[in-house]
Amino acid sequence: MHDVVDAVNTDRFKLNRLTPGPQLDSLVVDVHAGLTGSPRSLPPKYFYDETGSKLFDQICQTKEYYLTRAESALLRKYADDIIATVKPAAIVEYGSGTSEKTELLIQAANQHNDWVHYLPLDVCEEILIEAASRLIARYPWLSIDAWHGDFLHDMQRFENHHERSLYTFLGSSLGNFSNKQAIRFLRDVRETASEDDWFLLGVDMVKDAAVLNAAYNDSDGYTAAFNLNLLNVLNQSLDGDFNTDNFIHHAFFDTDKSRIEMQLRSTREQTITLREIDLEIKFDDGEHIVTEYSRKYTKESIQQLLISAGFSPHQVYTGDNNEFMLILSSCNKFK
Ligand code: SAH
Ligand code: AVI
Repeated sequence: MHDVVDAVNTDRFKLNRLTPGPQLDSLVVDVHAGLTGSPRSLPPKYFYDETGSKLFDQICQTKEYYLTRAESALLRKYADDIIATVKPAAIVEYGSGTSEKTELLIQAANQHNDWVHYLPLDVCEEILIEAASRLIARYPWLSIDAWHGDFLHDMQRFENHHERSLYTFLGSSLGNFSNKQAIRFLRDVRETASEDDWFLLGVDMVKDAAVLNAAYNDSDGYTAAFNLNLLNVLNQSLDGDFNTDNFIHHAFFDTDKSRIEMQLRSTREQTITLREIDLEIKFDDGEHIVTEYSRKYTKESIQQLLISAGFSPHQVYTGDNNEFMLILSSCNKFK
């Protein structure tokens, strides 16, 4: 049986854990490998402690970060169409965050089903509980089976017993994976789903470098704070002594690789200690840690990726300005 947190264990809201116990082990392995590698790097999933999740929410409201607005506009316009095609009894969402955009799909699903099931999965427990509590209070016909865990590493325990499900991965989170991780993740989703299920993927599109660079260097400094907060996460979890004043946020669009690269750059020569894992790292002045890639796609590149993972792309929704795409795919090869 899954562990269930009593406070949220009602008949309409269950919280399950993909990995029982603390997640410190993977953090130790990831941080050690990442900070001693070349270039130094850290996996983006550690951005999302409670502070990081709130900062991400603030990024989404900046004038430069168009992604969330563009995807919301697409969902407002096409949620009914998507739901009319799929008629899902359940909506599964990987990396659900605040679930705000998904709410549009949940509302549309209720037009076809008296009772709707939502299965959000996220690595940040606080945001998962906050979002689920909000939705449960708002919609009496909704039940939530929330999953806390890492969608790249511990999906073995995830269970969905509902027929005709719409699997979703929104917000261009696929762009944060390496190509290898992206294909593996998509294949995992395809294997988890049944032939009657559908998959809705939201990804950012290749565009003018100036627009992309601005989106990852907002003038209010929320992206910089989000990036630097990663050092606070390491300080807290691994008893570290990173001084956030001695690093700066740096993000740029790499046209050849079609991705934003986000870094933390050391502004001086310095030595950092993570006492919990007995690790000392010496940084040169200007040396960087890669903290995130954010890949941008074309209609062709994303459809190719989906096909190679076993999906049948059915419809690509883009706005008039080709900012962002939603791709609805069938899990049935012959549809
Ligand atoms: N889907 C939402 C949130 C995107 S932010 C939106 O479109 O606005 C990315 C979300 O993925 C965060 O909520 C973060 O906590 C979660 N996340 C990041 N890495 C993860 C991982 N490895 N496993 C599970 N969730 C992850
Ligand atoms: C969650 N993810 C898709 C965001 C992105 O755009 O790659 C995270 C982010 N990083 C900086 N700003 C937003």
